[in-house]
Amino acid sequence: MKPIQLERICKTFYLGDTRVKALDNVDLGIDRGEFVAVIGASGSGKSTLMNVVGCLDQADSGTYLLEGQSVRDLNRRRLADIRNQRIGFVFQGFNLLARTTALENVLLPLLYYRGSMPSAQAHRRAVDALQRVGLADRMHHEPNQLSGGQQQRVAIARALVNDPAIILADEPTGNLDSRTTLDVLALFQELNDSGITIVLVTHESDVAEHARRVIEMQDGTIRKDFQVENRRRAHAPVMAGGRLP
Ligand SMILES: Nc1ncnc2c1ncn2[C@@H]1O[C@H](COP(=O)(O)OP(=O)(O)O)[C@@H](O)[C@H]1O
Ligand SMILES: [Mg+2]
Repeated sequence: MKPIQLERICKTFYLGDTRVKALDNVDLGIDRGEFVAVIGASGSGKSTLMNVVGCLDQADSGTYLLEGQSVRDLNRRRLADIRNQRIGFVFQGFNLLARTTALENVLLPLLYYRGSMPSAQAHRRAVDALQRVGLADRMHHEPNQLSGGQQQRVAIARALVNDPAIILADEPTGNLDSRTTLDVLALFQELNDSGITIVLVTHESDVAEHARRVIEMQDGTIRKDFQVENRRRAHAPVMAGGRLP
């Protein structure tokens, strides 16, 4: 069973009189441990695809099986549970809370457990996640005291804190310079090596070359789907609890 299986997925948006088929009969299966880059022109449906895969949005028709379960059959509560426990999200704009420390930002997804997780355990998990992205020494810093790359790594720690099986990242390097982009790609590759399935949207072909497989979208359909030959490896100096120079 593939953890992500889309069959004939359609999603249409209406803007006044215009109708946009953002997803047009998409069939897509993603296996455990894959690292998939989704590329394609602006407006081709990449974000819509990610939102459906992440259960942030529902398809109009078709079947989406997430870890073997049809998303349509799940009630809101169950869907929220799966989304929270199985999927980590990373966005282009980091989406960190301002005037809130890195540690508190990473703790946020654990609040969802409301009292069912002892605060000492939650704290330890958040610190572990920050350690994993090489930012343990910045945990009391607020976003405006961190560089863009560091903020994105805090966001990745937040995505990791629930130990997800899948990470969905929509243009995660879109706001980063090329050096920092490589740091973040190295981190994604390391997480993928540890078994996490990664789906990453990018419009930069050199970012996509770090994935194992590339899916190219066009007008709401998958135009190309291929394995990356000579995949690029990003090497960053920040892993293993290290620190940024
Ligand atoms: N909430 C929405 N309302 C109306 N149209 C939308 C909405 N979201 C996306 N679209 C349209 O659907 C198409 C695909 O959008 P999107 O998935 O965001 O593309 P991409 O991420 O590849 O740039 C675009 O034409 C976009 O304008
Ligand atoms: Mg987009």
